[in-house]
Amino acid sequence: MLQASNARLIRRTLAAAGAGILAWSGLILVAGAGQGGPAPAAPGQETGACLVCHGEGAPLPAAGIVHSAHAALFGAGGQACAACHGPSQAHLGLAEDGSRPPPDRSLGPDDLAADINSTCMNCHAGEVAPHWSGSAHEFEELACTDCHSAHDPLGDPALDPDRQVGLCFDCHQRERAEFMRPHRHPLATGGFSSDPGLLACSNCHDAHGSAAVADLDGMTLNETCYGCHAELRGPFLWEHAPVREDCSSCHLPHGAIHDAMLRQRPPQLCQQCHLARFHPSTVRSGTGLPPLGADPNLLGQNCMNCHTAVHGSNHPSSPGFTR
Ligand code: HEC
Ligand code: HEC
Ligand code: HEC
Ligand code: HEC
Ligand code: HEC
Ligand code: HEC
Ligand code: HEC
Ligand code: HEC
Ligand code: HEC
Ligand code: HEC
Repeated sequence: MLQASNARLIRRTLAAAGAGILAWSGLILVAGAGQGGPAPAAPGQETGACLVCHGEGAPLPAAGIVHSAHAALFGAGGQACAACHGPSQAHLGLAEDGSRPPPDRSLGPDDLAADINSTCMNCHAGEVAPHWSGSAHEFEELACTDCHSAHDPLGDPALDPDRQVGLCFDCHQRERAEFMRPHRHPLATGGFSSDPGLLACSNCHDAHGSAAVADLDGMTLNETCYGCHAELRGPFLWEHAPVREDCSSCHLPHGAIHDAMLRQRPPQLCQQCHLARFHPSTVRSGTGLPPLGADPNLLGQNCMNCHTAVHGSNHPSSPGFTR
């Protein structure tokens, strides 16, 4: 287990920065990743030296990291603290005025996002880099630590669907409101307790950026939807152009007040684009409603009473999506 993790660590670190790695008595030591060439372990740079003051019960305890996603960094005698915070020699002693200089990199809220991110990227560029640069979140100067918790012994909030949804909602209030509409994609419980635990934001979005609109996971918006709604991928003998082009021309992907997460209620939905002459498709009054009448364009599924295969049809005689 430990060996497998260390092997991964070596690959990551080598790929990322060619940062100093020492293999010493079979132990893997990471020396101030990204800080240049290999440096031998100075006494005091070891994890234990930091935990003298940051152990359990200390004012700023840090030992919990041994149970976090970063546990793999902690081989016996390793310099895991230094890999992120720098060797921090000055911090181990006191300045002339008796104050304690900060560690080389605090990585806390006062630090620049770019500085925090470059530290993390030393090891994680392989997973994160392809679209991070230029992504909405990089552009907005988010730090990796706005979503990830390097020390959290409960696990990383972004990687846990239940906690992730709440994390994203903290900043994305408009989306929170969209997911409270009556017809919505079912979210993991971090959203609303009444929802069965199902989707997380990361089922559709890549928070590290992507090549698609809105940092969607798929190559395009539709490809993202086909990932779960594969039956709509087609191809169909008779394609309905807007379906092939963009599911969101009719659906609101987070949630809507109308059935099936539709942007508008049919027939208005259809009438945005269609004005069929032989079955008048003009804006309708209440005259087609009982007891005055029973206009099939207004009742029940309205247009879909007849155009049932609105996503496309494979029936030879259904160019009008009627079967
Ligand atoms: C002799 C005790 C001592 C040792 C050893 C020590 N620290 Fe600290 N550390 C402190 C104290 C005290 C603070 C709080 C300083 C403050 O609030 O200004 C602190 C704060 C920190 C912070 C938070 C800084 C911030 O700006 O919020 C980090 C990160 C940190 N230490 C990392 C380390 C690392 C990494 C090591 C090992 C290389 C280490 N410390 C070793 C006493 C120590
Ligand atoms: C994977 C990178 C990483 C490693 C390894 C790491 N830290 Fe941290 N540390 C951080 C980050 C990032 C923060 C800023 C707070 C946060 O996001 O969790 C932090 C915050 C801290 C703080 C301030 C905590 C507070 O409550 O304000 C201390 C103290 C600290 N680290 C000490 C250590 C010590 C000691 C070690 C080694 C046992 C260590 N860190 C290993 C990334 C790391
Ligand atoms: C010295 C290298 C190193 C640095 C620096 C580092 N990490 Fe890691 N990180 C690792 C290793 C090794 C793992 C464990 C990977 C595994 O088990 O798949 C890990 C795991 C993670 C995971 C969980 C990944 C998973 O697939 O479960 C996240 C999230 C993460 N790190 C975020 C960060 C953040 C944020 C920072 C900057 C504060 C950071 N890391 C800095 C090496 C590093
Ligand atoms: C806006 C929130 C957010 C930010 C900012 C963010 N991440 Fe992530 N990260 C996530 C989410 C969500 C996942 C889970 C992805 C999944 O489950 O598919 C993740 C997954 C990861 C993983 C696990 C491997 C993977 O790709 O699935 C690593 C490692 C990681 N992030 C590192 C980073 C680093 C390094 C940064 C900073 C450059 C960063 N993240 C910035 C939200 C974020
Ligand atoms: C610390 C605040 C913060 C957190 C946490 C956060 N975001 Fe964002 N996000 C932003 C900001 C700021 C923008 C840019 C403005 C906007 O589009 O709302 C943004 C933009 C986006 C965009 C739009 C991208 C585009 O190209 O238009 C998506 C999608 C997104 N975030 C998804 C997520 C997901 C998923 C999570 C949780 C894993 C998350 N965000 C967590 C602040 C945050
Ligand atoms: C079922 C897939 C799906 C899920 C789950 C999902 N989204 Fe989206 N999201 C989309 C699509 C598709 C768009 C693009 C909408 C458009 O361009 O019409 C989008 C757009 C966005 C945008 C950009 C809005 C804008 O105006 O540019 C943000 C921010 C966002 N989503 C955040 C989130 C957050 C936060 C979550 C989790 C609570 C989430 N999304 C869950 C599919 C999804
Ligand atoms: C990660 C899987 C996943 C992805 C990706 C996904 N969906 Fe869904 N979708 C679901 C689940 C689960 C349901 C709920 C099914 C149920 O309740 O039977 C659902 C339901 C729906 C519904 C019916 C809602 C209702 O009230 O009847 C529509 C419409 C829909 N999705 C459209 C989309 C669109 C458009 C996209 C692409 C932007 C998309 N979905 C992407 C999983 C997904
Ligand atoms: C032209 C408008 C339109 C477009 C574009 C569209 N849909 Fe629909 N969709 C509908 C209507 C209308 C319903 C409701 C059907 C009903 O009530 O019989 C629906 C229902 C659904 C449902 C609920 C289950 C079902 O089949 O009734 C899912 C899932 C769905 N759509 C997914 C998608 C996906 C994925 C795309 C993109 C590939 C897409 N839709 C594009 C109009 C559209
Ligand atoms: C975003 C615009 C748009 C929306 C909304 C839309 N359609 Fe269409 N529809 C089209 C286009 C474009 C075509 C292809 C027209 C062509 O090839 O001449 C089409 C074709 C059709 C056809 C086949 C007609 C023909 O001439 O082959 C039918 C039937 C149809 N749509 C019904 C519906 C119904 C029912 C709805 C509502 C659920 C709907 N449409 C919503 C754009 C739309
Ligand atoms: C009572 C059944 C019925 C209802 C309700 C209905 N249609 Fe039709 N529609 C048809 C039939 C039948 C055709 C011819 C189909 C074919 O050629 O395969 C047709 C054809 C169409 C065409 C192709 C028109 C053309 O000129 O070639 C469009 C577009 C269309 N309908 C849109 C709609 C819209 C929008 C609604 C809702 C306002 C609607 N329909 C309601 C039965 C219906």
